[in-house]
Amino acid sequence: MARRRIIAGNWKMNKTPSEAVALCAELKDLVKNDDVDVVYCVPAIDIVPVAEAVKGSNVHVGAENFYIEDKGAFTGEISAPMLKDAGVEYIIIGHSERRDIFSENDVLINAKVKKAFASGLKPILCCGESLALRKAGTYKEWIARQIKWDLTDVTADQVKGLVIAYEPIWAIGTGETATADQAQEVCGMIREIIKELYDAAAAEAVRIQYGGSMNAGNAAELLSKPDIDGGLIGGASLKADFGQIVNA
Ligand code: PGA
Repeated sequence: MARRRIIAGNWKMNKTPSEAVALCAELKDLVKNDDVDVVYCVPAIDIVPVAEAVKGSNVHVGAENFYIEDKGAFTGEISAPMLKDAGVEYIIIGHSERRDIFSENDVLINAKVKKAFASGLKPILCCGESLALRKAGTYKEWIARQIKWDLTDVTADQVKGLVIAYEPIWAIGTGETATADQAQEVCGMIREIIKELYDAAAAEAVRIQYGGSMNAGNAAELLSKPDIDGGLIGGASLKADFGQIVNA
């Protein structure tokens, strides 16, 4: 079974609502590709206008964050039912910026993964090591530990619908990309971990992205690797280059 490629933009805290609509218009004809799942993960305030702007196209809408309760006294937070009602399909969980800047730990990330599945949102679960761990040579153990924690009590059937993004922190926004072989090494290892934790069918179905300075120039090589099923793209998702990555 061939896995369907998934190219997702992570817009981060960029683009006001009107800028977001303008970017959708700029990318409209560039991201057309019926063989690829194309996703724009956008700031909460951009979700409604972006969902409207991409209506009728092949683009799916994703969010960058949510909270695990459906409603209530959680000032500043946004819930899965709110996202669903606004047209969101995908949700980024466990991005290193949320882990490091907003102190999200694996217990919360695991709760978010379970809540996303229970709510009908498709998680894009991020994992990845710091430069220190890469240099120390302990990055594989680190990533294995993240995956095990973050998927606690997640079922094999759910994992078949999961997207895992391998994002080495040292490659995010730095212009430094993991080589295609470095990315493949870890993405292949992640698939092995899923096989150990679940079964061969789940490992075969789970989609694994690479993220970290992926751009129009390096996308084709990264995406040619057997265990890299797509990309999670930050900087290059905010410009026309994103269309080249979708069609790489
Ligand atoms: P980058 O970001 O492509 O700008 O490195 C990737 C990400 O953080 O998802």
